[in-house]
Amino acid sequence: MPALSVSAPAKTILFGEHAVVYQRPAIAVPVSNLRTKVNIFANPLGKPGVLLFDAPDIKIKQYSFELDKNHPFQIAINAVVDYFHLDHFPSCEITITSTVPIASGLGSSASTAVALIRALVIFLGQRLNDEGINNLAFQVEKIIHGNPSGIDNTVVAFEKPIYFIKQGPVEILELKNCLNLVIGNTGIHSLTKEVVSCVKEAWTQNRKKYEMIFDQIGEISKSAKIAIISGEIGKIGSLMNENHVLLKQLDVSCLELDKLVDTALKSGALGAKLCGSGRGGNMVALLKGDENRLHIQNALENAGAVQTFFTQIQPSK
Ligand code: MEV
Repeated sequence: MPALSVSAPAKTILFGEHAVVYQRPAIAVPVSNLRTKVNIFANPLGKPGVLLFDAPDIKIKQYSFELDKNHPFQIAINAVVDYFHLDHFPSCEITITSTVPIASGLGSSASTAVALIRALVIFLGQRLNDEGINNLAFQVEKIIHGNPSGIDNTVVAFEKPIYFIKQGPVEILELKNCLNLVIGNTGIHSLTKEVVSCVKEAWTQNRKKYEMIFDQIGEISKSAKIAIISGEIGKIGSLMNENHVLLKQLDVSCLELDKLVDTALKSGALGAKLCGSGRGGNMVALLKGDENRLHIQNALENAGAVQTFFTQIQPSK
């Protein structure tokens, strides 16, 4: 029996990826049916500071001292040890499993960081609110992604829809209507750090053009916030389509993503766009209701999606 078991969701970005790194607003929602689960088993006879990690999905079975000092698991432990002014973390065995696809724009690293940090804190018998967990998870994300905006760890830590501006206060979005989403995976792995750095390079070469696109994306996020709060589903869909066009102009889409986006729209989705850093990974489509979800999922799979997921973001009570 584990001493404790904790999980955290995946996420998808509905509006504003990339532009959010440049201080424009973005909107993200948790994907609660895809999760990373962390179990911790106490090892009372073990040496303090010696932790065994077992993460079969990423083929890791190693003691903490065998991990690179910049390994995300190591950063997570150090963040918790430093926060609570400990000398060492107590000896234990930690298993990490996940249904979140890796390197695919669904926040697998943020999901792991949040679940692991939350589990470590609870294992210590300590308390830390969502904001505190989020701050520690951001330390891990910075090592993995270089210059992240913090949107991934924030939506995952709060597990609520958020309107997000880098370094701003967290704004939880109150939804009027349920959002029915289908996510389609191209199966192409793409690293956020690399795509973000390509966008930065292009921005450096042509600031005027990129700043203009970021401004337009920021305006879309602002309009989308109003549409989400007031429950204008059709409007949310068309804003997603506009956002995808601008992401193409940022050169972060690819043929496979565009094909899945087109397929979703032809199959009746109200809107569709790539989600996350792009150049592979996943796209997200907004449905009118949940009736034609299987039709859209089948169409996406026939168009090359290696996996599809359906998720619902419930309105605020
Ligand atoms: C990655 O999920 C979203 C990006 O905007 C990067 C970031 O916000 O850190 C591409």
